[in-house]
Amino acid sequence: MNGKRILLIIGGGIAAYKSCELVRLLRKQGASVRCVVTASGQKFVTPMSLAALSEDKVYTDLFDLKDEAEMGHIQLSRQADLVVVAPATADLMARMAAGIADDLATTLLLATDKPVLCAPAMNVRMWQHPATQRNIATLKSDGITVLNPDEGPMACGEFGPGRLPEPEAIAAAIAASLNTSRPLSGKHIIVTAGPTHEPIDPVRVIANRSSGKQGFAIAAALAEAGAKVTLIAGPVSLSTPAGVTRIDVEAARQMEGEVNAALPADAAIMVAAVADWRVDEAPSKLKKEAGPPALNWQKNPDILANLCAAPNRPKLVIGFAAETETAVEHATAKRLRKGCDWIVANDVSIDKMGGEQNRVHLITNAGTESWDRMDKTAIARALAQRIADALA
Ligand code: C5P
Repeated sequence: MNGKRILLIIGGGIAAYKSCELVRLLRKQGASVRCVVTASGQKFVTPMSLAALSEDKVYTDLFDLKDEAEMGHIQLSRQADLVVVAPATADLMARMAAGIADDLATTLLLATDKPVLCAPAMNVRMWQHPATQRNIATLKSDGITVLNPDEGPMACGEFGPGRLPEPEAIAAAIAASLNTSRPLSGKHIIVTAGPTHEPIDPVRVIANRSSGKQGFAIAAALAEAGAKVTLIAGPVSLSTPAGVTRIDVEAARQMEGEVNAALPADAAIMVAAVADWRVDEAPSKLKKEAGPPALNWQKNPDILANLCAAPNRPKLVIGFAAETETAVEHATAKRLRKGCDWIVANDVSIDKMGGEQNRVHLITNAGTESWDRMDKTAIARALAQRIADALA
């Protein structure tokens, strides 16, 4: 982000306090940040804090004669490389979608000729309201990037989607928007992620342990690099990365159906921890009093192996292998058995599963490369780069 200029518009919501951290992070990554705070934003974060963190003047008023004499407010939006709205409140996005320019923030947003990225934050019901969803669809069709909010407990005591993404995630999305090198543009890539849930009866399932974080990070990194990404996700509580088409599934057979429906593709990365077995599903809840159930086990399809053998197989198919011991040895054999081009061996004996980091080995027909223990997002970006080289 060295030398990039970001105009950060801060709307009025409790999440505005996180914008201070965002300014600090962006500056640390070499960007310069100029802040505009709406009237309601100033109720949550003071221009003084933002001026100190950005080491620049903070703009608040459309009709400030002094500002206008120094620099016309339109200039403010023209001098930036990217305009970021964080937090983007329901009200601010509604005014943007309607083309209203009744304060400095909305005037700049209407006058800008630069890309705009919104990081929404609001109460879950406000987020889910059809009016908000309509406005977001309008903003997206106007070419504005709208990040998905995080899901979790809210300041108002409710739970659900609507939380401002963490400053690190917003900074990563900003870096991606500024990055004009898109080595995967024009490529379609399928990613599977998360566990599968195989029903035992209407209320019970058999599942694997998988947070889905590594697969989602890979989908995000591929989209950042310009690919059209179809992410087929088992049950996880993660928000959809920007620019990714997500299809939610429960069981392995459903996942395989969606993988096949998503073809053709240039590459497929199968990160999902698919259950190897399913059982015949009981039509109603099994009763405890009846004793341990006799489960009739069936083998699930091996989605990866079947895809590798398919006539319309993507050019590059990558498997994952979570192993607790002799990861490289097991994964090397698995690559040959399944017929995939590369396999990423994930040594789960070192890191607690579901954490933020992984230690992986990339196994190809050229041999094994052991990568340093890294954040899942860093692994994802490194892998995206390698995929871009292989598909070039
Ligand atoms: O056989 P194992 O589960 O160890 O292999 C892991 C790799 O195979 C992963 O890439 C996983 O997504 C894929 N897989 C699959 N379908 C299965 C089992 C595993 O696609 N039924």
